[in-house]
Order: sequence, then C-alpha cells, then structure tokens
Amino acid sequence: MWLTWRAAMEHALYGESGFYLRERPSGHFRTSVGASPLFAEAVLRELVAVDEALGRPDVLDLVDIGAGEGGLATGVLAAAPPSLRRRLRVTAVELAPRPPALPGEIAWSRAAPDGICGLVLANEWLDNIPVDIVEQTVTGPRLVLVNVIDGEERLGGRPGEADLAWLNRWWPMRLTGERAEIGRPRDRAWASVIVRLARGRAIAIDYAHAVDDRPPYGTLAGYRDGSMVAPVPDGSCDITAHVALDACAAAGESAGAVTTALTTQREALRALGITGRRPPAEQAAADPRGYLRALARSSEEAELIAPGGLGGFGWLSQSRP
Ligand SMILES: C[S@@+](CC[C@H](N)C(=O)[O-])C[C@H]1O[C@@H](n2cnc3c(N)ncnc32)[C@H](O)[C@@H]1O
Repeated sequence: MWLTWRAAMEHALYGESGFYLRERPSGHFRTSVGASPLFAEAVLRELVAVDEALGRPDVLDLVDIGAGEGGLATGVLAAAPPSLRRRLRVTAVELAPRPPALPGEIAWSRAAPDGICGLVLANEWLDNIPVDIVEQTVTGPRLVLVNVIDGEERLGGRPGEADLAWLNRWWPMRLTGERAEIGRPRDRAWASVIVRLARGRAIAIDYAHAVDDRPPYGTLAGYRDGSMVAPVPDGSCDITAHVALDACAAAGESAGAVTTALTTQREALRALGITGRRPPAEQAAADPRGYLRALARSSEEAELIAPGGLGGFGWLSQSRP
C-alpha cells in the first residue's frame, strides 16, 4: 500500500497496533528523561520559577505532553517539596496506555487539559508528530509516497497550497533532489498547547533546525532496540524527523504566546544549575565517597548538556503571564 509519509507515520506509530501503543520507548532510544533523574530536578526548578512568577496559585499545573512512560512527571513529583506537592496537579498526556506503576496523583489523558496554569513540558514529542515529505523536482515540489511494507518510495502529486506556502516560508528548497519535511502538523500541535495555556510557560524540547540551516535532504530516521534503522513505516520501529522549532514558535505566537525564547538544552539547563562541573580533585582524599557521588553527578550533567548530543537539542519556551 502506498501512502504519503504523514499517513504512513500515523498508521505505523499510532494505528491499531502502532509502535507507540505497543512498545516502551525506553527499550528503543534514550531521552533526557531516561538519561538522568537530574533532568526532572531541573524541570522542577523551572516549575518553581513559574510558580513564583504566577504568585503561587492554589493549584499549579504540570502537564507533560508525549509523556511516554511517565518518567518525567513521576520524577518531578518525587523531587517536589511537600508544600509544593500539595498544590500540584500533574497530568501526563499520552496516547499509549497508562503504565500500571504510575503514582495515583498523576492524571493520564489522551488530550491536554484546558485552562492550564503552570508549566507544560513536551520532551521529544513534536518529532513524533507525523509529517509529509516532499522532494524538489524540475517542476517544483512533489509529495513522496512510501510503501508501508518495505519502505520503498516514489513521487506523488503536488502538495496543497497551504503546504506550499509553509515550504516557501519555512523550508525553501533550491536544488532538484532536495527534500523537506512539512512541519505544519507540528505547528498546529504546538499552537493547540499554547491555546490551552491560560497562564504560565510551555516548553518544547527536540532535535531542531532553523530556517537558514535546514538539512537539504531532511532528517527522517528510524530507531529500534537502541539502534538507528531504515525508517520503514510498518510499525516495527520509531519514526522521527527533527523539528522546525522556529516555525512552531511563530505558530505559538499566533496562538497567544506573549514571550518566546529559543535556545539550546545546553544553555537552558546551565541556567537551571546543570553545569557538568567536576568536583575539585582534593575532595578525593578528604571525602572519597562524596567525591565519587559528585563525579557521577557531574558525568550525568555532562551528558545532558553535551553540545553534540542532548545539549544540542532546541528548547522553545513560550509564556503567557
Ligand atoms: C519519543 S517519545 C518521548 C517520551 C518522553 N517524553 C521522554 O522524553 O522520554 C514521544 C511520545 O509522544 C507520544 N505522542 C505522540 N503524539 C501524541 C499525541 N498527539 N498526544 C499524546 N502523546 C503523543 C508518543 O506516544 C510517545 O510516547
């Protein structure tokens, strides 16, 4: 069966026996959430800052979108001081079934709640929102169709006018053979988050690229059992493509975001106290156990902010006061 990539991804990832409804993501790839509990601690610090900016409301929301196995929500809740925990309303938004061991205080929902007052976090969510792929030909962009059995590709028709306008604005292709991933579904998904944010901040974290530096042949990739594999949309692997976060930012602004910051995870986490600094060597003799603990912590921090790895992810942070 031949489908556009968007339809094929939708079916392969979220169809009846789709990859994400069947599999545990942590068995296939490592995100910041799984890399270290220090990530959840940093998110807690962000949540505390949002709480203060909002004047400590009676109910403070933490909404984790594309929550996977709920690790981030669980980690933030566990690290929160009791005074904050009492006011926290935690919602994990996820299409996969609720994990049996999830703490009872965490609500599990297929859709984000309305009227959010607090912090929304979406770590590696947007890259899994299905997108269409186009290829530049001598007569202009054409949709790429894919065979869902073996991943073979062929060219289909012209994209619609709205997609062409998006390409023109956000991902102009120059040479025949170049490819682009049409980010409109991600823009819409992100805008729908901002619309639900009454007051507070929403942060999307993902592999990202910017309009002046798009990868000329796209970024579509598959992951299975910890390895990169060919992105065959048969439900056997994760299928992902990096995110045009600058386009999502513009969509968020149109949806009501008042402030926007687009930076890297390295910079964002450093501002939240994740430095990767090693403990002083003299601590090794004075306090060997403390030194080893500090050393382990610094290596986890270093992984979260590594420029060529997780630290290179984009952080889009938008707020409504
Ligand atoms: C790469 S995983 C990230 C999991 C987790 N955030 C982490 O960092 O470990 C992406 C998750 O987004 C979920 N997802 C994709 N589209 C969704 C949607 N429209 N609503 C809720 N969850 C969605 C998938 O089911 C998947 O579990």
